[in-house]
Formats: sequence, structure tokens, C-alpha cells
Amino acid sequence: MKETNIPRHVAIIVDGNGRWAKKNGKNRSFGHKTGFERLEEIIVYAIEKGVKVISLYVFSTENFKRNKSEVKYLMDLFCNNFKRLEKKYQKENIKAVFSGREEPLEKRVLDAMRDIEEKTKNNTKGIVNFCLNYGGHAEIVDATKKICMDVCSGKIKIEDIDETLFEQNLYHEFPPVDLLIRTSGEQRLSNFLPWQLSYAELYFPETYFPDFTKEEFDKAIDVFCKRNRRFGGDHNENENS
Ligand code: IPE
Ligand code: IPE
Ligand code: MG
Repeated sequence: MKETNIPRHVAIIVDGNGRWAKKNGKNRSFGHKTGFERLEEIIVYAIEKGVKVISLYVFSTENFKRNKSEVKYLMDLFCNNFKRLEKKYQKENIKAVFSGREEPLEKRVLDAMRDIEEKTKNNTKGIVNFCLNYGGHAEIVDATKKICMDVCSGKIKIEDIDETLFEQNLYHEFPPVDLLIRTSGEQRLSNFLPWQLSYAELYFPETYFPDFTKEEFDKAIDVFCKRNRRFGGDHNENENS
């Protein structure tokens, strides 16, 4: 596979942990734990393959609607794993960042997030973007507020607002998503990266996330490589040549 065919930015909606657990006669917590282990493996594998940014939807702003004990389990899982992953990412030269709102995350979760972000900030091989307490609408509202504040303070003028400036005010300024994967057979975006996904190729495997192996990831890349991305241009770029 040519290096140029590897998507620069891959986004994954990590879905199906609960159904995987049910299918295997386990509780939902076990599904989340196994899902996180799988996630760890996929992050390193994707970056090893040449993906530059991997964005992972691990907790949405709407997931706070779930019952308290599931939310607590997930927060514990994030805290404990981020502490441990720090060393691994130092070794692998991976930079970890987060996208999402701080409110209403607990201090201990925010501390674990800030810690891994700080310790890995100079790493250069690839970036893992954990979307935690992330909502796409919230991101657009937050960017709009920042821009309005800059207009009010005189830092920029209304005429300066364009797509580039808008992107600079999102949680992070990354290349657009090339490939979006949502596991578990669901075919919806659930408020994930609405700005960044505008020209992404979408791929919806039936597999529940805890079963989403490196081989499954390779399959997704193969499908992506066969897609004809046109970005509004000609149907076949060689047609008129
Ligand atoms: C994805 O698995 C993990 C999170 C949303 C945190 P789910 O918990 O949504 O699993 P299902 O969809 O109930 O199977
Ligand atoms: C989306 O999955 C959020 C994450 C994967 C973190 P959900 O399982 O919460 O989404 P819906 O409710 O099925 O749309
Ligand atoms: Mg789900």
C-alpha cells in the first residue's frame, strides 16, 4: 500500500461496548474495559501505519444522561488509563490531546487529562485526540463565542471571519477527517465532529468495538483506498484529460 493512500486523519466512534458485553454474558463495565484495551492497541497501530491524527469519540456530552454508576465507571477507567498511558506514549513518541468541554468533568479527571497532555506535548510521531465530554454542537458554539469575544475586543473585524479563522477557533486545528469509522452497525454521527467530517469517507462495520482488531482496521483502510474522493470536482479526474 502506498504511503500516500493512508488517511492523514482517522476518526472513530467507539460503539457497541455494551452490546458486546451482553452477547458475551458480561456486564457493561467489562465491555467498556475491554473496549479501552482494544482502543489502546488501535491507536498505536494506526500511528505506526502512518496515520497522523486519530480522533476517538470516547464520551459524548449526551453520555451524562446514562446512569450514575456507568458514568462513574467510565470516568475511573479514563483517569486510571491516562495515568498509565503517559509512559507508553513517551516511548512511542505519541502526543495526546483532548477535545470537549471541561464542565461538568470532575477535577481528578481533568487533572489526569492535563497531565498526559503536558507530558506528551513535544511528541511528534502522531496525535491521539480523545474526544471526551465532546459534542459537535457545543464545539461550534464555543468557537463562535471565542470569535465574538475577539470581535468585541477589537482583535479581529467581522470581515476577517472565514472558514480558516473558524477552524482556528475549534478545540484543535487538525487536517479534516479523511475516514470516519463507527463500529457496531449504527449508521449515525451522534454529534461527532460535524465541522471536520464534512468531506470524510464514512465506514460502518457491524463489529462491536471490543472485537475491532488490527485486521478490522486494515479492512477499513482498504475500503478507504478504493473510494473515489471527488470533493465536488469531476466524477473521473482522468475523463477529460
Ligand atoms: C460505546 O459503547 C462507549 C461509550 C459510548 C462510552 P456503548 O456503551 O454505547 O455500547 P452500546 O451502544 O450500548 O452497545
Ligand atoms: C456515541 O455513542 C458516543 C460515543 C461513542 C462516545 P452512543 O452510543 O452514545 O450514541 P447513540 O446514543 O447510539 O446515538
Ligand atoms: Mg452506543
